[in-house]
Amino acid sequence: MDDQHDSVRAVYWEDDALHLLDQRRLPAQEHWLQPADCQAVAAAIRDMVVRGAPAIGIAAAYGAVIAARARYRAAPAAWRDPLRADLETLRQARPTAVNLAWALERVAARLEDLRGDPEPALLALARDIHRQDVAANRRMGELGAALIEAGSGVLTHCNTGSLATGGYGTALGVIRSAWRAAKLSAVFADETRPWLQGARLTAWELVRDAIPVKLVVDAAAAHLMQSAQVQWLIVGADRIAANGDVANKIGTCTAAVVARHYGVKVMVVAPASSVDLRTPCGADIPIEQRPPAEVLQLAGAPVAAAGADAWNPAFDITPASLIDAIVTERGVVLRPDREKMTALMS
Ligand code: MRU
Repeated sequence: MDDQHDSVRAVYWEDDALHLLDQRRLPAQEHWLQPADCQAVAAAIRDMVVRGAPAIGIAAAYGAVIAARARYRAAPAAWRDPLRADLETLRQARPTAVNLAWALERVAARLEDLRGDPEPALLALARDIHRQDVAANRRMGELGAALIEAGSGVLTHCNTGSLATGGYGTALGVIRSAWRAAKLSAVFADETRPWLQGARLTAWELVRDAIPVKLVVDAAAAHLMQSAQVQWLIVGADRIAANGDVANKIGTCTAAVVARHYGVKVMVVAPASSVDLRTPCGADIPIEQRPPAEVLQLAGAPVAAAGADAWNPAFDITPASLIDAIVTERGVVLRPDREKMTALMS
């Protein structure tokens, strides 16, 4: 990659191993892990070594390759059922991002007609899922950037960039493309409490890729929009329900409500693998609850009064009615509803 605005990759397969950039340590350290077995891949997903909906789907697909190797070596004639159990272990690592289940369903379907060593076929599939994700991101980048008028300011939430995907990013991919097209007057990123994906990851990625970024605390969204410094809120999705409701990082709905109030447009950027027509609406999406310690501590140090508890949902639901555009690699849906989402996916 020699593109100065797209230099980061956090997941790759090389020398028969999965390599994951440990996102818990960014921006202080660039430390790479090579999970040795399926349990280690599931733990890496659960503990946020790798995070972001598309990236965890890709990591799980490579995790299935590691599991297949171990199961075939242990029992060349009876690997299938134990491998199916491994896929279930991976699927349970995080509940909200549907890309994880989507990738593992593709792996399970591929297993059906496989005979002999499953590793080569599953590696080809994982590489395919990875490649297709990057291609989808580039397409969404073009489609999303086309919606943005020159001179616009944008606000993004969480991290949806190369770190959260196979590469390039979804919402951050649109921002990359729009920046390259010289359409953006300013890029603002929410710091994204409690895990600080914006401050630690989005800022790291954008600085590295020579795209100027201004961090704001999450609570600054209203003032930022009221003072007309941004024209678009651009976010990703962990799951898009059949009616166009969107699950994304906690705080997305808050920003979208404020955006509607101040006439700022809301763009959700996600690959078709994040669209789940089997989930009728946002209320049916399981919301991951994470440990209170993520709220009560900062980098391991207590910030709350001793004895306080915390409620820590990792995601919220933005109703379709607050969304101006859903951008996927299949096309753009303006003012999404059930009918338009069904048409997009058919
Ligand atoms: O808890 P995380 O960091 O995995 O949450 C990530 C998000 O909410 C992203 O916005 C979403 O997965 C889309 S990433 C392209």
